[in-house]
Amino acid sequence: MNKSETDRILQLRELIHSYNHEYYINSKSIISDYEFDLLLKELEKLENKHPELYDANSPTKRVGGDITKSFPSVMHQYPMLSLNNSYSKEDMVDFDERIRKIIDVPFSYICELKYDGVAISIIYENGQLSKAVTRGDGTKGEDVTNNVRTISSVPLVLKGNAPRKLEVRGEIMYSKAAFQDLNLQRAKEQLPLFSNPRNTASGTLKLQDSSEVAKRKLDCFLYAVFLEDNHIEKVYDQYYYLNQFGFKTPSIKSRYVEEVFDVNGIMDFISYWHSKREDLPFEIDGIVIKVNELAIQNEIGNTSKSPRWAIAYKYKAIQVSTILEDIIYQVGRTGAITPVAKLNPVEISGTIVKRASVHNADQMIKLDLCYQDTVYVEKGGEIIPKIIGVDRTKRLTNSKSFKFIDNCPQCDSKLVREDGEVHHYCLNSNFCPPQIKGKIIHFIGRKQMNIDGIGSETIDQLYSAGLINNIADLYTLKKEDLLPLDRMAEKSVENIINGILESKKAPFNKILFGLGIRFVGETVAKKLTAHFQNINQLRTATFEELCNIDEVGGKIAESIVAYFKLDFNNEIVNRLLGFGLIMESIQSDFKLKSTILDNKKIVISGAFQNISREGLKKLIEENGGKNSSSVSKATDILVAGENMGPSKLEKANNFKIKILNEEEFLKLINQQNNSDAKQYEQGELF
Ligand code: IVH
Repeated sequence: MNKSETDRILQLRELIHSYNHEYYINSKSIISDYEFDLLLKELEKLENKHPELYDANSPTKRVGGDITKSFPSVMHQYPMLSLNNSYSKEDMVDFDERIRKIIDVPFSYICELKYDGVAISIIYENGQLSKAVTRGDGTKGEDVTNNVRTISSVPLVLKGNAPRKLEVRGEIMYSKAAFQDLNLQRAKEQLPLFSNPRNTASGTLKLQDSSEVAKRKLDCFLYAVFLEDNHIEKVYDQYYYLNQFGFKTPSIKSRYVEEVFDVNGIMDFISYWHSKREDLPFEIDGIVIKVNELAIQNEIGNTSKSPRWAIAYKYKAIQVSTILEDIIYQVGRTGAITPVAKLNPVEISGTIVKRASVHNADQMIKLDLCYQDTVYVEKGGEIIPKIIGVDRTKRLTNSKSFKFIDNCPQCDSKLVREDGEVHHYCLNSNFCPPQIKGKIIHFIGRKQMNIDGIGSETIDQLYSAGLINNIADLYTLKKEDLLPLDRMAEKSVENIINGILESKKAPFNKILFGLGIRFVGETVAKKLTAHFQNINQLRTATFEELCNIDEVGGKIAESIVAYFKLDFNNEIVNRLLGFGLIMESIQSDFKLKSTILDNKKIVISGAFQNISREGLKKLIEENGGKNSSSVSKATDILVAGENMGPSKLEKANNFKIKILNEEEFLKLINQQNNSDAKQYEQGELF
């Protein structure tokens, strides 16, 4: 072991933790992004070289990389309660009176913002983050530790003299800016937009790939702490206490938290934030009022569901009324029809709203909408406002009611609504203009063919100019077709043509995802291409054969069979093949190069510097080894990469399994004829 490298790893971890703290908690940049990245890269490299110095709370964990297949259930040591709601001054007077009946000594209240996110419990042991668990049913929640580790404002290692055990409770949420950025990115990729930051935060915490979570920039706000030795007296002191260990806590200065002494004080705080909440960088859905003294909280106690010493005051969602001019119908890439209300423009909290979602035909019937109705429009946490009701008293006599359309507004095909579906669909998928464009835009997306230089506007332009009608037409485009078009300079045309050419190298799974077969998303495409060696095997597969594949159910199988039943689609696939796209799985070019790994069961974990995970798996098979995904007694070797899963390492150590880092493993394979290999054959290496 190289002592100076070990020391450097420890030093870098401490240094990067402290820069992170200054940046995310104290909003101070001490070094440039570039210098910060250099330090992080240096640490990554050293950790990769020394998997034995694995640390689940290393700053390199912020970028994620761990895959959580299922989120184990964990019992909460202290139940996670909810809050009773109140909506008026009268409710608040009742709350205050209930407390004063029990308590006859002076006390104060703490008013706080009610963060609109997902509750989380985070446990620290000896200053190290050990577990993060969702609320669940209040008694037990789900272990989302790997994902929470990627949230920058959650400390991984506590500063100073942290207690042996510390549990904090808080809310995980998106800032308004992070949520907007996320949707902008999705709009660029032609993915459906997220409508509500709270639900999106909840969904993000349950993503399997923590590096995806890391990209999403979640935030965490704390509101409670549990200690073995509870020496703290007041709620506000808890925040002071937590702040010294590096937690982000609400500030008095910006009035995020305030001590008050009676209902009038509470109502002042409520009305201050009623008007100011629009200016906050994050969403709140109300105010939380708590008895400040923790000993008095204890005396007042809890019901089985909620504390008696605290209450939430909920703000009503902002509503306005306006005139419903018309309902138009949008056609999505899959042919789903969405009714959208055209409104007389109206301002809702600073933005002019001209359209609102009506979701689907059932919602239209439920709302019973008529032309020129006065409708109530609400903008809650959602970014797209919705119609929530009609003012019947203002309905014009003889006004005509809206009736859901029978035919596609774009291509006039008969719409179909199948049993169990909420949407009507236009089934003319290959000839209906928005579906044609939507399919091409899907095909060029980042996770599909990733064609540089083209965006949805270019596709619109190329389609309108009659140059493309389907995905295969992209490969017929020539420089001279594009140059005469508006906004097409020599350089951008070159980028487009090069991007298209480059995309011919895309692997089979990405092409398959790009075809846009209904229900065949990124993961299913990977499963299918791992099962079938080439597109011909896939397109001739029967429904039953497809159903036997892991993660392929009846709905998906049916959709695949239906897709390849159409000559039109087979023609497109044939043309893509003709243009040189390769629709074959990697394993089809399999050649056994050596038997050095002779049926050994090998688990790889983490990311690798000089080879991709897929490449490494292929190498293992080519040298006679067997890949397995989980460590067990039967495992012969664990190849430890960067950011590897802590549970794998722990198991490998328990079972005394040989652990090799990337360099050692590649050396073993590459030097099969030298002494390493001989040692291996004699059973000395594992
Ligand atoms: S105190 C109930 N303070 O609101 C236990 N909760 O609707 C004490 N929340 O489950 C909770 N901001 O997830 C508290 N400043 C705040 C809060 C807050 C948001 C959430 C929390 C709770 C939910 C109840």
